Amino acid sequence: MPSFPSAPVRDAGTAAQWRAFLRAWISDPLRTAAMSPSGAQLATMMMAQLPEGVRHAAYPVIELGAGTGVFTEALLAAGVAPERLLVVELNRGLHGILRRRFPHVQIECADACRLLELTARRGIAPGSVGAIVSGLGLLSMPRAVVARVIESSVQLLRADGRLIQFTYGPLSPVPRALGARLGLASRRCGMAWRNMPPATVYSYGLTAPGAARRAG
Ligand SMILES: C[S@@+](CC[C@H](N)C(=O)[O-])C[C@H]1O[C@@H](n2cnc3c(N)ncnc32)[C@H](O)[C@@H]1O
Repeated sequence: MPSFPSAPVRDAGTAAQWRAFLRAWISDPLRTAAMSPSGAQLATMMMAQLPEGVRHAAYPVIELGAGTGVFTEALLAAGVAPERLLVVELNRGLHGILRRRFPHVQIECADACRLLELTARRGIAPGSVGAIVSGLGLLSMPRAVVARVIESSVQLLRADGRLIQFTYGPLSPVPRALGARLGLASRRCGMAWRNMPPATVYSYGLTAPGAARRAG
């Protein structure tokens, strides 16, 4: 169930942003994982999964694989203050676009694998993050890399925090065994049919045993 109703996200994205995204896909299709930025319907569904506290409280929020910033814009519109938002994007061209579009947001041109190091440098403590919104194409990433990103996310999330991820595939993009090992509970939140390609939104949170295991 959505944590709070979110205003619909307007379709945005200039032709230049679309061209930059397509260039990123041509140079590295597996990493970019899509030929165009996500649409407004998917962004609205992702934002609807943000925990209530994230909008009002001063928790850090992280976005992984931001592309041209469709979700970044939606996070700011949902009430996340720019100084609380850390965005990680690996592609240099897309990172440049993000820096120009969102000058007040903390934006790293870096591999999401290095999340714990990046957050430590920014003074974001483990267990303090309200939400991690991920646009990473987990299905086309090596399993070891996926495990590292998800393990880091679990370390960073508050006990009531959420990892929000979409997938173009038919199943949860976090492998079942990994989720079970980390004590993550997954929720399938719905499908954005109008997205190109259609995408399913998942939200993950720590179970009580998962939170206890992490603390220990
Ligand atoms: C499917 S696109 C999603 C882009 C954007 N969130 C959207 O929905 O339009 C995946 C993005 O993740 C970025 N990416 C891929 N691997 C990454 C990594 N290891 N660390 C950080 N970003 C990565 C790609 O460059 C690309 O911008």
